Amino acid sequence: MSGHPAPLAWRAAAHAKINLGLAVTGTRPDGYHELASVFLRLALADLLTVTVGARADPDGLAITGDPECPVEDNLVLRAVGALRAAAPSGDSLPGLRIALEKRIPLAGGMAGGSTDAATALRLAAAAWGLAPSRADLERLGARLGADVAFFVGGHAAARVSGIGERIEPLPPLLDRVGVVLATPPFGMATPAVFAASDRLEPPGAAAATAVDALVASWRQGLDGPGLAARAAALRDANDLWPAVIALEPRLARLRDVLEEALRRPVLLTGSGSTLVALYPSLQQAHDAAAGLTARRVTGLEGVRVLATTDAAIEEEP
Ligand code: C5P
Repeated sequence: MSGHPAPLAWRAAAHAKINLGLAVTGTRPDGYHELASVFLRLALADLLTVTVGARADPDGLAITGDPECPVEDNLVLRAVGALRAAAPSGDSLPGLRIALEKRIPLAGGMAGGSTDAATALRLAAAAWGLAPSRADLERLGARLGADVAFFVGGHAAARVSGIGERIEPLPPLLDRVGVVLATPPFGMATPAVFAASDRLEPPGAAAATAVDALVASWRQGLDGPGLAARAAALRDANDLWPAVIALEPRLARLRDVLEEALRRPVLLTGSGSTLVALYPSLQQAHDAAAGLTARRVTGLEGVRVLATTDAAIEEEP
């Protein structure tokens, strides 16, 4: 390193995730829900760049790519603030300037805010020359949001349980899976979906069983085509679906339209609003997404359609 100036900017991709099955297995006294799910990290990612300002500067955030994304109270600033508060003499650390390029749709069930927060923790630690352990970062992350710990771990996939803090890593898929994401022009508010779910009949054990079956075959070695072939079993394995369509019946119609147009099962990720179709390869997902756009399918007006893959391939974000 001698002779080279210190890097002036730290940059990293903040990857999205999808849920493959989501079982609600219990409610805790604090109102949070016990879950069981498989999280799959996607190549789709936001991009964060951190530069160091002057000592007296406050930490600042500038967002491009999505005018709807809030700057005030953004989880990125809360993450940086939490790391500063936890650092010895954090007050004397210089201000950070953070540029966030949004590509992950907001309120879409792909944990965009949580992944940005996890990446911000990592980049801020590097920029300040701190060396927190992964356990430290996971603890900080878990306080910021239920999904943050998964991203701090940096896993390609994991079985996630508890309220999101219990993470059992799964190996990367043996070969890529193609993913088509269809995000309608409205998002879902996660707390409202959980609250609506509490007002409905408690779910049975089917989703939990489907998640466990997926985990078992994953551990034996699963590839993209193998995962895509499981889509029918995962379609009805999201326990939040009844609450989501009670709040937003347009999503039930959108799933019908997509299943008719794509001729394959369509899954809900997280608490929505993004719907997901799985393909044996990225090429097939690209072709399907391009076909949907070209055919101007009735019912898909305003729906953002993206093709991506799991994040074992680091696509340039
Ligand atoms: O932790 P996070 O801010 O991501 O969660 C958003 C909201 O989703 C929580 O305030 C809670 O209402 C709900 N939630 C839940 N159980 C979880 C995760 C989230 O009830 N395991």
